Amino acid sequence: MVTAGPTYEKIDPVRFVGNYSSGKMGFAIAGELAGRGARVTLVCGPVSLKIFHPGIERMDVESASHMRDACLQVFPETDGAVMCAAVADYRPKSYAAGKIKRSRKHMLLELVPNDDIAALLGSRKSEKQILVGFALETGDELTHAAGKMEKKNLDFIVLNSLRDPGAGFGVDTNKISILTKEKQILSYPLKTKADVARDIVEEIVRRMETLI
Ligand code: CTP
Repeated sequence: MVTAGPTYEKIDPVRFVGNYSSGKMGFAIAGELAGRGARVTLVCGPVSLKIFHPGIERMDVESASHMRDACLQVFPETDGAVMCAAVADYRPKSYAAGKIKRSRKHMLLELVPNDDIAALLGSRKSEKQILVGFALETGDELTHAAGKMEKKNLDFIVLNSLRDPGAGFGVDTNKISILTKEKQILSYPLKTKADVARDIVEEIVRRMETLI
């Protein structure tokens, strides 16, 4: 299973809270896995990307809670999951059924926390499953990424820093480091997202071989 893209958290019928994720990295990983013969379920938030491969089944979701439900349903049947989606950490506390009208007063939008999908899967994963997360950081990158790997019970985490030119949202390139639960740090140069996907899938395949 691969998650990709942003999630949209509805405010009213015409507005949402979202983020800049394009879904490109997750789609590249799904394509690379399928190209190697895996059957992939791609759980994706609202993105404009298309992907056609007989090995890929796509499940479109909108909000973090839709994504959580889809992931909890699919994950038990998988050999593992790559959590590439930029899941919104918060959603509006209430949804207005009618369009909120403009007024001259200040407005406060109250947000409540969403579930951490990767951590939920991490708490349910079996010895035979591999769980991979991403960390997009803007400072103190290695410490934050290592903390997330431990908290979410990941096998490895793919770190990208918004401080690296060519890494991040919307672009076709990425520069990653992989931190493993065995405390290895693998660093890679700036590459296309397709080539980065190959590096990540290589690490997944290497681990799967040790599980067999
Ligand atoms: N993730 C998730 N569900 C969430 C938030 C994050 O599954 N509600 C996953 C992401 O897909 C990613 C990893 O957890 O693989 C780390 O996401 P990130 O946003 O970097 O971390 P957070 O735990 O949300 O921490 P913070 O936003 O405070 O940096």
